[in-house]
Formats: sequence, structure tokens, C-alpha cells
Amino acid sequence: MKICIVGASGKLGRYMVQHALDRGYGVVGVCRERSVSKLDAFKGRITIVPGATNVRGVIQQAVAGCDGVLTVLVPWGTDHYAAGTAQAVLDYAKPGTRLIFSCGWHITRDGKDVYPSSLKREEKIMRWITRIVPFADMDDQVEACRRVFASNTRWTVVRGSDLEEGESQGLPVWSRHVGDPILASNITRRVDYALFMVEALQNDALIHEAPAIVGCRTPSALAFAAAQK
Ligand SMILES: NC(=O)c1ccc[n+]([C@@H]2O[C@H](COP(=O)([O-])OP(=O)(O)OC[C@H]3O[C@@H](n4cnc5c(N)ncnc54)[C@H](OP(=O)(O)O)[C@@H]3O)[C@@H](O)[C@H]2O)c1
Repeated sequence: MKICIVGASGKLGRYMVQHALDRGYGVVGVCRERSVSKLDAFKGRITIVPGATNVRGVIQQAVAGCDGVLTVLVPWGTDHYAAGTAQAVLDYAKPGTRLIFSCGWHITRDGKDVYPSSLKREEKIMRWITRIVPFADMDDQVEACRRVFASNTRWTVVRGSDLEEGESQGLPVWSRHVGDPILASNITRRVDYALFMVEALQNDALIHEAPAIVGCRTPSALAFAAAQK
């Protein structure tokens, strides 16, 4: 299995690289030129294609011959970085490639998510700040996911809760809609978010799903499991 990790140098990206290597996958990582050194720990074990992830030629080169592509979608910048990245992956991954994208709970697929007021407040503040200091474009990440949802590729969009560092607790649990009781704790270890992304490559039940995830040892996940017994 050969996979490409788009956004490999970030925190999530590096965890995904490690999980992929642990499984014996061949890994091609894409990251901005200035971030290549963040991948020094993997020197000689992965191939790096340096460049902005929304540059089509960069993605075309990186995904060639890959069976799966893991893409970190971020709202940074104001030049449609997320939408450009998603579009390039959708256009250049060979037909049948498993495509996994990351984003946050704020992305909705069918409008049926019920958001906690804290999350709505956070999004409002972020939108207000980025109107004044335009360092990110929240709507661009929304547009990126809209394009993925509309595509006829074998996609999964993994929607992350709030994240924390710490040792792995195991594969996160998921649900289709934010607001479902199992997700109430709203916290996932970043290393486990990465695990979910990598495991999704082999889980066809997640094709055309937008799972919202939460840590498997969080109170809400444990309460849900107990109620099933
Ligand atoms: N942070 C959270 O609490 C949270 C919550 C829910 C979901 N998520 C989702 O999780 C994913 C990764 O989040 P993370 O917090 O773990 O961050 P991360 O892994 O550090 O990823 C950040 C990514 O953004 C890139 N980046 C940073 N600044 C950039 C810029 N100005 N232009 C272009 N790219 C830039 C980084 O590349 P470089 O290495 O080149 O800087 C890296 O690939 C995202 O899809 C995010 O929506 C995060």
C-alpha cells in the first residue's frame, strides 16, 4: 500500500506519517518548502514532495501511484488554500483511490448537526477576528468539503472534535451528527484522530460518510458503550 499525506508536516500530519509507517505503508508527504525540516525524524523512510498543497502540479506529482490519500484541510490564508488543495486531490488521485480528508465539527454534510453553544460562539468569534485580520477563511474549508461531498470519488471526511495531546487511548468512536449523545465530551487525542484517518483507508463502511469523532475513553463514549450492554 502506497499512500500520500497532504499536509504531512503539521501535528496531525506527523502522527499520520507514524501510523502509516507502523503499518508498513510507503509514504509520500506533501508540505510547504519551509516546513520540510519538521519531517526530519522520518528522513530516509518517506518521500517528500515540497510545495504548497494547493499547487496542482505538486499534488499531481505526489499522488501518482498512490492507493490512498490523507489530506489535512485547513482554513489558513485567503487564497482558497483548502478548496484548491481538495480540488487538486479530487482531480489527480487515480480513480478508485481511497480519499480521507480532515476538518472540524463545524463542517456539516446535511445540516442536521446540533452544535453546542460554546462551538457556535467560537465560530462566531473566529469569523469576526478573521474579518478584521484576514489570516484564515472559514468559508473556504466549507467550500472544500462541499466539493468533496459532491464528488464521485471514494471519500471520507473525518470531522474532529476539540483536540488534545497525550498518549493514544485507541480508535475514536464516531457518529453521523454533532449533538448525538456519544459525542458530548467533545475531546479527542490528536494521535487518535490521526489513527482514525489512517484506519479509514481500510474501512469501506466509511466511504461517503462524514464521521464526527470523539475519544473512545471520554465520559460520553463510555456512557454510550455502557448503555448498549
Ligand atoms: N486544532 C483543533 O483543535 C482542531 C479541532 C478539530 C479539527 N481540527 C482539524 O484537524 C486538522 C489539523 O489540525 P491541527 O490542529 O492538528 O493542526 P496541524 O496538524 O498543525 O496542521 C496544520 C496544517 O496547516 C498547515 N498550515 C499552517 N499554517 C498555514 C498557512 N498559513 N498556509 C497553509 N498551510 C498552513 C500546516 O503546514 P506547515 O507544517 O507547513 O505549517 C499543517 O499542515 C485540520 O483539518 C483541522 O480542521 C483541528
